[in-house]
Amino acid sequence: MFYYIFSDLNEHSILDNLKSRYGRGLIYTYTGSILVAVNPYKMFNIYGLDMVKRYEGKPLGELPPHLFAIGSVSYTKMIKDNENQVLIISGESGAGKTESTKLVMQYLAAVNRSGNNLITEQILEANPLLESFGNAKTIRNDNSSRFGKYIEVFFKNGAIVGAKTAEYLLEKSRIVTQAPEERNYHVFYEMLEELSDEQKAKYGLQTAPKYFYLNQGGSALIRGRDDADNYRKLTAAMDILNFERQEQETIVKILASVLHIGNVYFKVVQENNHDRAELGSDAEIKWVAHLLDLSEDWLKQALTSKVTEARGDRFYTPYNLDQALDARDAVAKALYCRMFSWLVERINMIICRAEREKSTSLAVLDIFGFEDFHFNSFEQLCINYANETLQFFFNQHIFRLEQKEYSKEKIRWEHIEFKDNQPTIDLVATKPAGILHILDDESNFPQATDNSFLEKCHFHHSGNELYDKPRMSDPEFYVVHYAGKIKYNVQHFLEKNKDTLRSDVIELMCESKNQILSQMFKDHRDRLITKTLSKTTGRYVTVKPRTTTVAASFNESLLSLIDTMSRCNPFFVRCIKPNAQKAPMTFEDIVVLDQLRYTGMLETIRIRKMGYPVRIKFPHFIERYRCLMKGEPIRSNQVPWDVCKVILQSQGPEFKDEYQIGATKVFMKEAFESRLDTAAGAIKRAAAVRLQTMVRTFLVRNRHQKLRSAVTRLQRMVRMWKTRRDFRTVRNGIVLAQAQFRMFSQRRRYLKTRENLKHRLEEHRLHRRKQEVQAKMEKERRGNMAMGCVTSSECNAAMI
Ligand SMILES: Nc1ncnc2c1ncn2[C@@H]1O[C@H](COP(=O)(O)OP(=O)(O)OP(=O)(O)O)[C@@H](O)[C@H]1O
Ligand SMILES: [Mg+2]
Repeated sequence: MFYYIFSDLNEHSILDNLKSRYGRGLIYTYTGSILVAVNPYKMFNIYGLDMVKRYEGKPLGELPPHLFAIGSVSYTKMIKDNENQVLIISGESGAGKTESTKLVMQYLAAVNRSGNNLITEQILEANPLLESFGNAKTIRNDNSSRFGKYIEVFFKNGAIVGAKTAEYLLEKSRIVTQAPEERNYHVFYEMLEELSDEQKAKYGLQTAPKYFYLNQGGSALIRGRDDADNYRKLTAAMDILNFERQEQETIVKILASVLHIGNVYFKVVQENNHDRAELGSDAEIKWVAHLLDLSEDWLKQALTSKVTEARGDRFYTPYNLDQALDARDAVAKALYCRMFSWLVERINMIICRAEREKSTSLAVLDIFGFEDFHFNSFEQLCINYANETLQFFFNQHIFRLEQKEYSKEKIRWEHIEFKDNQPTIDLVATKPAGILHILDDESNFPQATDNSFLEKCHFHHSGNELYDKPRMSDPEFYVVHYAGKIKYNVQHFLEKNKDTLRSDVIELMCESKNQILSQMFKDHRDRLITKTLSKTTGRYVTVKPRTTTVAASFNESLLSLIDTMSRCNPFFVRCIKPNAQKAPMTFEDIVVLDQLRYTGMLETIRIRKMGYPVRIKFPHFIERYRCLMKGEPIRSNQVPWDVCKVILQSQGPEFKDEYQIGATKVFMKEAFESRLDTAAGAIKRAAAVRLQTMVRTFLVRNRHQKLRSAVTRLQRMVRMWKTRRDFRTVRNGIVLAQAQFRMFSQRRRYLKTRENLKHRLEEHRLHRRKQEVQAKMEKERRGNMAMGCVTSSECNAAMI
């Protein structure tokens, strides 16, 4: 696939590939399952929820390379195989490890199936808190992590139930000294920016340039960083993480005290021909004693004299100026370091409450990369040793274990040559003559010096080809690391290796009336006692237990880390810094090529290409890819080996070199696994689509039938209503017509009757009139007859 850099294996083709992709804004590239991330120094819009959804559950290689793809694969694998996972993010300072860690955490928070948002939020909020206290501006990175961290996120049934952070090797020297252009830990500047004048007055605080521990780098501000806002975020994070008011108050008091301690200065006083340091002013001491609730006199004593105990008596030897300055710095470092470890413990207490049995974890390791400065000291030796060990882990995982496995599984393989860095690890750390062991011995030997340590190193290792002496008599030695030959200067090695938490300082802090502070140191003291006692052999301690040294405790935590990681399935993310100026989208060939060599990437690509990095047990393989048999049943005489063969052969004879079948597992190249995943995915998708189709058909048909019967019912009702309405109209019409007709016939009858009546009345009237006339005539005739004067002719005429 085009985003794998496997095809052409020389430095320049790999570099060109990375460069051309970077030029097109593609910052991620795969080499096998290892993700190479080239820092763009510019935020791309590729980390939104849409991307989370896009990558969720997808096999590696199906979509373009992305950090979320690694997150998705590890999360899916954790759930599917019920196996702990670890993402090892490495690279030099400023390469993008911490940003990648944050993005992975955000991805996990988005995809996990937890209903409890609080725990997820608390886990995410631990990050700005640790960044404020553990990150600082360096010339390489404005937000450089000055400690290594290993965050384990615990899941139950795919839901986040807690997390645990382990911290490694916080840079102590930064608390008291900073190189030009660099800063102390962010939290100091953030606090001074945000606190109001009244609050500052309460803690006796001023502005950053007024403090020796903050002004040495001459760079109190970082462009584009809002310190005050970050302080608000920090306090909000503390609230979310349930830090009580008193705890928050104690933290501010400790920070303020560290700043006050830094401003303590001394005068030199001559006493019995010896220089003795005396405190220049009481003001800072008073503030520290007040803020930390300590005895002022004890504090003064701790800064100006050394305490030795003999047969129950205490003797105080005054310090000279250098010793007093060292003692002052030691108190500041002790306070800050202890507070930092306490913070981590406190956060863990909150976010790691859930019982962890039966939970699986996905861990992320964000640890300092390989360092090679002009002046390399004890810290660089520890850091480079850590990287050497991680590289060993990487080699072991990728090459050695696999080769062992090939033999065990009777796989045909050609012996693969690779650079085994075990001898370098032996040179640095194995007993009894490893450099760090010599250093530990010397640290416990009162007369030892940096030079005597160097002499012993030369004595034990001059014959070792991985070790070299300088040509001149400089206090230096060389170690050939997997990433190159590094020169270390032994100045202050012994002092740096001795634990800076002096016992009298611990006692002083334990006596504080501030419960939180005193408990912080009591816990530490108790742990030291159990640690040293547990190292003695029996009940009786005949020799004074050795005090733990920095190298010894670092080695111990490193080995425990490796042990934890070796029980997980690892994924590797290699971050690359494209230029030294932190410039966006600028790719400098030399800078990148150096890192490709450092990280052993070229070697990795070569070996991975030759081997079979994917191994899956038969039952799991069959379960995962059975669908590739396209419905063909597994016969009773077919053993798992045969079934796997049928599945593998389904991809065609041209892929026969891409896999081998071992005694219990199938071995494949990564590209072939991707191919199988894609093919199986397509079949499963098609089956799922078919299933979906059936279910949808069923649902749609059901719905359709319901709808249809409802529609028919509706139609029936409507038709009934219409018919009834029409019927009523017709009936009304008929009734009306009948009424009309009846009215009409009644009327006609009535008119006729009336006419008849009229007619009869007329007749009747005429008749009456006739009768009246007749009556009248009769009357007149009778009158005439009566009077006798009437002639009969006249009577006849009157009758007519
Ligand atoms: N994926 C990314 N997208 C955009 N910018 C990034 C990305 N990764 C890193 N950066 C930029 O690079 C800077 C340095 O990254 P980061 O702090 O993660 O480096 P680091 O490897 O942790 O260094 P250190 O070892 O010093 O802690 C970040 O502040 C950010 O500006
Ligand atoms: Mg970092």
